[in-house]
Amino acid sequence: FSLAAHNTLALAAQARAFARVESLDELRQARVWARAEGLGILPLGEGSNVVFAGDVDALVMQLASRGRQLLDSDDTTHCLRVAAGENWHAFVTWAVGQGYSGLANLALIPGTVGAAPIQNIGAYGVELEQFVEAVQVVHLDSGVEQTLSAADCGFAYRDSIFKRELTDVVVTAVDFRLPLKAPAQARYPSLAVYLEAQGITEPGGMDVYNAVVAIRGARLPDPATDPNAGSFFKNPVVAESVAKALAGQYSGMPTYPAGEGRIKIPAAWLIEQAGWKGEQRNGVGVHPGHALVLVNYGANSGARLLELARAIQLSVQERFGVALEMEPRVYGEVQGAAQGAGQ
Ligand code: FAD
Ligand code: EPU
Repeated sequence: FSLAAHNTLALAAQARAFARVESLDELRQARVWARAEGLGILPLGEGSNVVFAGDVDALVMQLASRGRQLLDSDDTTHCLRVAAGENWHAFVTWAVGQGYSGLANLALIPGTVGAAPIQNIGAYGVELEQFVEAVQVVHLDSGVEQTLSAADCGFAYRDSIFKRELTDVVVTAVDFRLPLKAPAQARYPSLAVYLEAQGITEPGGMDVYNAVVAIRGARLPDPATDPNAGSFFKNPVVAESVAKALAGQYSGMPTYPAGEGRIKIPAAWLIEQAGWKGEQRNGVGVHPGHALVLVNYGANSGARLLELARAIQLSVQERFGVALEMEPRVYGEVQGAAQGAGQ
């Protein structure tokens, strides 16, 4: 089964088997089938944060369940259960329209609701974890259903338990605790600048939503024309002393506070300074408009893309002494060499 249409990098790869599941019953059937065939299972949403390095020797299970349900409410918040297969941006658009404006900063992030907790999606000063009440999962080995509280999920910057200790589960739904009157969060620099330029001094949820949609549209390449997976690396978080030493050497280096004694440096800046912006080789490249976005320019090969990623990591490490960690997860086998499912 070809996965080319199931990843935003448009990488060519074959899956041993593919199942689109729309309900818990279909999920159970697919799980039993995979076990009988001796196949592992790889859950997939819209494929906007995966790199297929080669063919995937597993059942790729696409979560396509739909629906949302009000679980409970009080004077200040509503709790909503949203099925894993719902499109994230469609949910945000609906939610902001209903007055749940806190989600506005997360507009236009590609992918599904079910994938959102995996890396605790974030943008423009907001992270998913602020709104998660619980995550509903099914364990793939036992078939057992479990409710994980937000605290159980171990959320951090582009990270959660689902990328570490708990990789063998499929998220079936996310329960959101949404404030009815969330104050607009508009302090993220580019968002604040945009709103000010529009003459908006007291933004509401819809203002933030419109601003984020406009900024993202202007800043990030569209996977439909330039196949990509968004940011290819996480922004490195370093000790304050390391950031100070680098800032002394490179006066233009942007830095952001990242908690007690820690500083976040934009990976895009490091990559651009190392001379990679706009670079193309072997049918893959670094987008000329944003240095953190790697693009498949026709190689259609995850192996070529990973070679480029490694060359960038090496060059940034040599020049700045900073390690870049990949954001998307890697699956599939690179010609001959065995590669674990994910990293
Ligand atoms: P997939 O790519 O299908 O899967 C991603 C990972 O989650 C895989 O490991 C997969 O196995 C696992 N997974 C998927 N669904 C489930 C499930 N139901 N249960 C268990 N595991 C599952 N991310 C941000 O945080 N902020 C951004 O601003 C942002 N901008 C982006 C812009 C562009 C143009 C693109 C292409 C990507 C961007 N991303 C961003 C990354 C991406 O949108 C998110 O990671 C998103 O949550 C991925 O959703 P998906 O359904 O496509 O997941
Ligand atoms: N910059 C450069 N060169 C470039 C692009 C950017 O030097 O080519 C510098 C600029 O100084 C800019 C800074 O990098 O101010 C930050 O750039 P940007 O605002 O575009 O954000 P980012 O750090 O590249 C992060 C997230 C995005 C998220 C935006 C907005 C990570 C890895 N990426 O990008 O998330 O949408 O902030 O919050 O944290 C994703 O995860 O896939 C993703 C797109």
